Amino acid sequence: MAVAELSLDELQAWGRRFGASLTPPAVITLTGDLGAGKTTLVQAIAAGLGVTDEVTSPTYGIAHRYASARGPVWHFDLYRLRRPEELAQVGWDDAIASDGVVLVEWPEIAARLMPSRHVAIRLEQVEGAEARRRLHWPEASV
Ligand SMILES: Nc1ncnc2c1ncn2[C@@H]1O[C@H](COP(=O)(O)OP(=O)(O)O)[C@@H](O)[C@H]1O
Ligand SMILES: [Mg+2]
Repeated sequence: MAVAELSLDELQAWGRRFGASLTPPAVITLTGDLGAGKTTLVQAIAAGLGVTDEVTSPTYGIAHRYASARGPVWHFDLYRLRRPEELAQVGWDDAIASDGVVLVEWPEIAARLMPSRHVAIRLEQVEGAEARRRLHWPEASV
């Protein structure tokens, strides 16, 4: 894993670069506490993929699908899901089977329904540095 401590601007720039470098199909998981910056990073990755619609905060539902020049982009926030079986009701199978990009917050909740081929990104708060986040990503994925 590679690791970096990034400011908000740096994290957003990293996300746009990462999104621009992605070759669909791809599943990306984002792990980290509430407020760690998962949605912020999803928004930047989507921008890098060429999504021009506003990528909303997850408060407005579990699954969102966006169009981009590089194909469909899904954003799942599984925080409010209680069981992996509920994924069937939010379009999970279609997203995973598609040739698009699937971005997943709280992937732990998908458990065995998470495809084994995915890029796992982790975000952590940095003690004593409120405006920075520690980002972990698999080096080979960028
Ligand atoms: N370096 C940073 N990287 C990402 N977010 C940051 C950073 N510094 C401050 N923040 C703030 O932290 C919050 C992260 O919220 P959000 O992305 O919704 O987190 P999550 O989806 O993990 O709950 C945002 O308000 C963002 O502006
Ligand atoms: Mg979030």
